[in-house]
Formats: sequence, C-alpha cells, structure tokens
Amino acid sequence: MKKNFFANKKVLITAGPTREAIDPVRYISNHSTGKMGYAIAESFLRHGADVILISGPVCINMNHQNLKIVKVNSASEMYLACCHFFEEVDVAVFAAAVADYRPEHVSVQKIKKDDSSFTIKMVKNIDIAYEFGRIKSNEQISVGFALETNDELKHAIGKLNKKNFDMVVLNSMNDANAGFGYDTNKINIIKKDFSISEFSLKPKAHVAEDIVSEIALMIEQENASRELLNLDLYDYNY
Ligand code: CTP
Repeated sequence: MKKNFFANKKVLITAGPTREAIDPVRYISNHSTGKMGYAIAESFLRHGADVILISGPVCINMNHQNLKIVKVNSASEMYLACCHFFEEVDVAVFAAAVADYRPEHVSVQKIKKDDSSFTIKMVKNIDIAYEFGRIKSNEQISVGFALETNDELKHAIGKLNKKNFDMVVLNSMNDANAGFGYDTNKINIIKKDFSISEFSLKPKAHVAEDIVSEIALMIEQENASRELLNLDLYDYNY
C-alpha cells in the first residue's frame, strides 16, 4: 500500500466498550480496552486519512491533527455520534464492543441493597453496524469485527451477511494471547466474496496495519472494476 493511500479519505471508527447505566453509580459493560480500534485509527492516520474515532470509555490518549475523537458512554450515544458523521465517510470500521442490552429503567437514585436478590430487566440496544449496513452506499466500505468462542467461521459469515459488511475481522476467544486486553491479536479476515485470509499472532499495531492494507486492497480492486465497467459502457455507447 502507498504511504498516503488514504489521503483525502474519511474514516469512521467505533472503539472500546459501551457502558449501560443501572443507576448514578453503576453500569453494565465488558472487558474491551479499545486497543484494537485505536491501533486501527493510528494506522489509517499514518496512511493519510482523516479519522473520526467514536470511542467508548478507555484509558488511551491519542492526538493527531487529522483525528477527531468523540467520547461516548452508552450504545445509544455511540449510535447518535455515528449518525452525525456516517454519510460523509468513505470507510467505517465497527471495532467497538457494544453492549447488546441495557437496563430497561435507569434509577435516578442509587439503588439500595434491600433484598437478598436483585433482578435487572434488560432491553435490546440498537445494532449500530446493522443500521449503517442498511443505508450504506455502494461507494462506502464497512468493516466489522466478530469475537467468537465457538463455530467462529459460521458466526462471522452470518454477521458479514446480516450487517452488510464488506469485510469481517474474526477473533477467536480460543486463540491464546489474542482479544480483549492483550497487546497481541490473531485474526482471520473474511471478505464479501467469502475469501478468507489467515494472519499469525502479532502486536495489535501490526494487526491494524494488516486490516488497513486489506481495506486499501479492496478499494483498489473496486476502483479497477468500476473503471472496467465504465470502459465497457463507453464501448457500448460508441
Ligand atoms: N455491533 C454494533 N452494535 C451493536 C452490536 C455489535 O455496531 N449493538 C458491531 C460490533 O462493533 C462488531 C459487529 O457488530 O463490528 C459484531 O459484534 P458482536 O458483538 O461480535 O456481535 P453481535 O451482533 O452483538 O452478536 P452476538 O453478540 O450475538 O455474537
């Protein structure tokens, strides 16, 4: 990939976990640290992109003149922030570990421990990647993640189809030193033509570079096919 391949391109990335409030002092969340999403942002910036990073609560600081970070807490806030930018971006990478459910009611006051057990009714959160998969244009590339514990390939392909991704990055929880919290990761990339590329265990910065290179390759291939199609149409007209 050329160093400045993504110059003049806008990329939206979701990263980190979301927090779903129970009351003013408690929330439900997950183990995501945001390291993978931030590493992808860094890689895009290195290749000249303008990056909008919609980030859940993480302990990472990042500054760059071409980077805009929007900090959010809940899945609904993450969705609203994405709505603000999605239309104008060329690439969207959904790397956040979005909570699938949130408490139906958020208590205004701290909940007291009165009873011996306590039940929270949860309702489904909006599926951010799915919603943007429904409205994305043919020119926009959307990339998703699938973190699986079993039947990894089947679930990843299911998500590729359901969320209209152009590419899915599959992590298996069964791979040692990969996934949440680690500085390394091991991925497979599945594209919409169902081709599968397997990568070895690497530092997350190198994994991010692999993902961004695959996206660049996909853009190059799509541009080449569009050019061919235009040539064909030209021949047909004259
Ligand atoms: N995702 C999202 N919004 C959600 C849930 C997931 O944008 N509410 C995105 C993730 O960022 C990821 C992809 O969808 O790119 C798959 O997320 P994952 O949690 O693996 O899958 P789910 O669709 O939530 O399915 P399940 O939890 O049942 O495996």
